[in-house]
Amino acid sequence: MKNQKIQIFDTTLRDGEQVPGCKLNTEQKLIIARRLDELGVDVIEAGFPVSSPGDYTSVEAISKLVKNASVCALTRAVKNDIEVAAQALKSAKKPRIHTGIGTSDSHLKHKFNASREQIIERAAEAITYAKTFVDDVEFYAEDAGRTDNEFLAKVCSEAIKAGATVLNIPDTTGYCLPEEYGAKIKYLKENVIGIERAILSCHCHNDLGLATANSISGIINGARQIECTINGIGERAGNTALEEVVMILRQHSKLGFDTNINSKLLSDTSKLVSESMGMFVQANKAIIGSNAFAHSSGIHQDGVIKNRETYEIINPADVGVTESSIILTARSGRAALAYRAKKIGYELTKLQLDIVYQEFLKFADKKREVIDQDVHRIIEMSKVGLLA
Ligand code: KIV
Ligand code: ZN
Repeated sequence: MKNQKIQIFDTTLRDGEQVPGCKLNTEQKLIIARRLDELGVDVIEAGFPVSSPGDYTSVEAISKLVKNASVCALTRAVKNDIEVAAQALKSAKKPRIHTGIGTSDSHLKHKFNASREQIIERAAEAITYAKTFVDDVEFYAEDAGRTDNEFLAKVCSEAIKAGATVLNIPDTTGYCLPEEYGAKIKYLKENVIGIERAILSCHCHNDLGLATANSISGIINGARQIECTINGIGERAGNTALEEVVMILRQHSKLGFDTNINSKLLSDTSKLVSESMGMFVQANKAIIGSNAFAHSSGIHQDGVIKNRETYEIINPADVGVTESSIILTARSGRAALAYRAKKIGYELTKLQLDIVYQEFLKFADKKREVIDQDVHRIIEMSKVGLLA
């Protein structure tokens, strides 16, 4: 049986771009939007048009450019926001308006000073109004992670009645545990009136490092869209990382899900976003960090040289990385040294390797990483030693 498709809603250019100091200009956003379209995302959230003239221009330009994905614009549940978003999306082949309001008790009390009934009314009004411009309207219940499930189900039922096609359930503060977030999605699937007419979407923040786990839990429990960003960038500790959820669903195909993403473009896309934003990716970042396919301990290196699958669950080529790397350090063994020596043209006998390896260890103890040039020098010097 074919795996069910999960929609990938990329918000690198909206939630991702909210990172302090990482502002992009329209030209940079267009380059990234084109790449996201090639990558195969289903929705590109291009910005929040009412927030600034620059954001409006970017959403307008991205709407003209994008060929395959839906282009989405964020709004508050405010008429003017919705009008401005609709105008910016005018040229999009598949426009989507993303509107919503806070639903947790904390948001009701501190942000809106409003009752639950008033919040439902404002949500429904915003969706009805957005529907006068576009067919595809996504509703977000901000801080859904801390909203009680019964009230959330009520808001969602009214949102569908007003015409919402997608219900976004954001864990805005990254508070939920995976089981809790999954149970929330399951509850909504079972209790929202008209849920068969809409899809549930996971939008998880990473404040406790659980964004990816929560999104996957949401999918297992009935959500069919994940909102995420390249490299997991975003407000505070960031959003769910696109590359992580895509590869989890692919590696665990027994779950029965997949996405339209061309994973071979993941590494390059990560570099494009990181360089455009001037935001480094940590070396040990899953899937796209520079150490994600690097092996430095002797035991691991020996295993990987014999068979890649001993210590790698992903083929690096599947995410656009040419090959696994064997990093030479003082923890490396003879197998790794012989492997790297062979790569630069030295076929060492067992005896030669024993001698070169002793020199290598002395050198490696003084240096963090031994590069090809060093290996070359060590071998040449050892040869002199052998002849003497
Ligand atoms: O985290 C959040 O709640 C959001 C909404 C605006 C969708 O980004
Ligand atoms: Zn968010």
